[in-house]
Amino acid sequence: MAGIRITGWGIGLPDRIVTNEELSQTLDTSDEWIRERSGIHQRHIGGTTSSLAVIAGRAAMDQAGVTGDDVDMVLLATTTPDKTVPGTAPTVQHALGITGGAVDLNAACSGFVYGLVFASGLIATGAKRVLLIGAETLSRIVDWEDRGTAILFGDGAGALLIEATDDEGDLLSWDLGSDGSLTDLLYCEHGDAIHMEGKEVFRRAVRVMVDSSTNAMSQANVTASDISLVIPHQANMRIIQAACQRLEIPEERAVVVMDRYANTSSASIPLAFVDAIENGRIHPGDLLLLTGFGAGMTWASAVLRWPR
Ligand code: COA
Repeated sequence: MAGIRITGWGIGLPDRIVTNEELSQTLDTSDEWIRERSGIHQRHIGGTTSSLAVIAGRAAMDQAGVTGDDVDMVLLATTTPDKTVPGTAPTVQHALGITGGAVDLNAACSGFVYGLVFASGLIATGAKRVLLIGAETLSRIVDWEDRGTAILFGDGAGALLIEATDDEGDLLSWDLGSDGSLTDLLYCEHGDAIHMEGKEVFRRAVRVMVDSSTNAMSQANVTASDISLVIPHQANMRIIQAACQRLEIPEERAVVVMDRYANTSSASIPLAFVDAIENGRIHPGDLLLLTGFGAGMTWASAVLRWPR
């Protein structure tokens, strides 16, 4: 069976930056509180999910040197589609001149890692190239008067171009899960805004990230000390710190971009991934642990080996 190889990557961000200071002008909060309790300094706000996805997707295709005719499938992880129907992926597919299929995938903040595993399944069964994108405009479903949630979220997109390879490929193992008894912890009804039990989400997030990462590492037959870099979902700096501590992975090995981008749900792991690649933090042979959790609850982890 063919393995997967990541050959292109890119991000898309709206121009407008909203700082904590700006939020504190309309909310009973402060820059200091938000930084200390979440690790977030600012977020990008604006655009549509498809427009951000197109920017990220085009960059990934350009870097891999592929055209629309080469791509068999667009997988778009998002919780904030432009419309209820149709999915947003066909809009992205059309804008990028892609001739393959296109489908949205909603596993909340775990969506990108779910998508990575689905891409691997498509490639194992004959696809040659998959464009995997995580894109969100969470600013559209945030209650800007609720300081418990408004401070946390942002808009953005990240993409990977994934190709078939004859060798084992980059994806060594994965762990995907869900517990639908916990939907009430974090949800958004049609036409409403995000509701969240922040403390309980925090508590469970640490636990599922640790358990899921441990499962993925054991399936890849590697240990925490083998992991060069953790690319975690960017929800709260303290969640990442607590998970790293329990996994016995030094915190410095975790990629953090939430200070700049806040929590962008499906886009947060690819934004962190691309940041790590572009800042030279990933070297040939490195073992990478991707791990996320989100509404559902869902969780998803994967171990990758960077080949170059
Ligand atoms: N600014 C200032 N004060 C705030 C505040 C804000 N934005 N939000 C809450 N507070 C206050 C609370 O009212 C509370 O005050 P009190 O002690 O007088 O009652 C105090 O700060 C502590 O609130 P608490 O909710 O216990 O804070 P916390 O340390 O749990 O941090 C979150 C709140 C939301 C940042 C944190 O729980 C979190 O990140 N949870 C996980 C969220 C998450 O990951 N969501 C995405 C999942 S994909």
